[in-house]
Amino acid sequence: MTRILAIESSCDETACAIVNDKLEIESSIVTSQIDTHARFGGVVPEVASRMHVEQISTIIKSALNGRSLDDIDAIAYTRGPGLIGCLHVGAAAAKSLALFYDKPLIGVHHLKGHIFVNELIEPLHYPLLALVVSGGHTELVYMKDEDSFEILGTTLDDAIGEAYDKVARIMDLGYPGGPKIDKLAKEGKPHYDLPLPKVSGYDFSFSGLKNACLQLSDRLKRKGEPLIGADLAYAFQEVALHHLLDKTLKVINDHEVKHVLIAGGVAANSRLRSLMSENIKDINLTLPPLKYCTDNATMIAIAALKEFKHHRFVDLDVASLSSFDIDE
Ligand code: KG4
Ligand code: ZN
Repeated sequence: MTRILAIESSCDETACAIVNDKLEIESSIVTSQIDTHARFGGVVPEVASRMHVEQISTIIKSALNGRSLDDIDAIAYTRGPGLIGCLHVGAAAAKSLALFYDKPLIGVHHLKGHIFVNELIEPLHYPLLALVVSGGHTELVYMKDEDSFEILGTTLDDAIGEAYDKVARIMDLGYPGGPKIDKLAKEGKPHYDLPLPKVSGYDFSFSGLKNACLQLSDRLKRKGEPLIGADLAYAFQEVALHHLLDKTLKVINDHEVKHVLIAGGVAANSRLRSLMSENIKDINLTLPPLKYCTDNATMIAIAALKEFKHHRFVDLDVASLSSFDIDE
């Protein structure tokens, strides 16, 4: 049996997990720094890397829970993309373990983790289309097989999660804004008109929508009229999520797709999940449980098992990459 110990530290979660090749999660520890960053209204990179430094040894120790590394076959870590200072902390910890215990080292692409974690739910069928939506990403990834990744569409400006967080800030909802808008929008009514982004092909754009929210809020303030938060949350979310859905359906229409999955923090959104299941009927659709949508190390271990199978290891001197192409 192959067993991987994996470390994730690309943004504001410090995590370590041990997963075997039967996809059994032997251990998984995740700590989030969200409460700290909430005080600043968003992730502060310098604070995040310092917190990873403070937490990482304890997290690895908890994940090991007294077991030795004798039966661990490789050490994996998130090589990128992410906040560079944060990535370095996970990389340094993984490299130290690999060097000291003489284990192969696997540098994992973060988005592959978000995609392959869905194997915990059901086998993936190819060609597959992954809609990866998070604080840093909005990507339509087309996979002919488990080793080919083609980015068919991406955002031309803000990531979808970033747009959620910024619009939430306009309404003083606090960070992270995604879950708050998700909840508030359930009480909202169609009242405000916001422009649907116009972008050709499979790409996305959210900055115009975000600015339209800001302008609406400023205009109402100038007129002394109240902004109905629930209605703005509703309007923003309907436009943003239909934009995601339209492009996803466009790819399905133009390509052979046997399986669609959503991944990343925004995949936790309840409206996105219902829109996807209402509109994607004749194709396998995986909506991962919420705990696998946000960052964790289990997903890094699962992606690493594939690298292990092909003996794709990295050297100790390999660099972490804040931007990292998935097909590199
Ligand atoms: O994947 P993730 O945990 O971290 C990144 O790699 O970015 O995603 C975090 C993002 C944040 O922008 C957060 O507001 C958003 O995911 N998010 C949501 C929801 N839950 C988290 N956005 C919309 N609706 C949600 N329920
Ligand atoms: Zn992520």
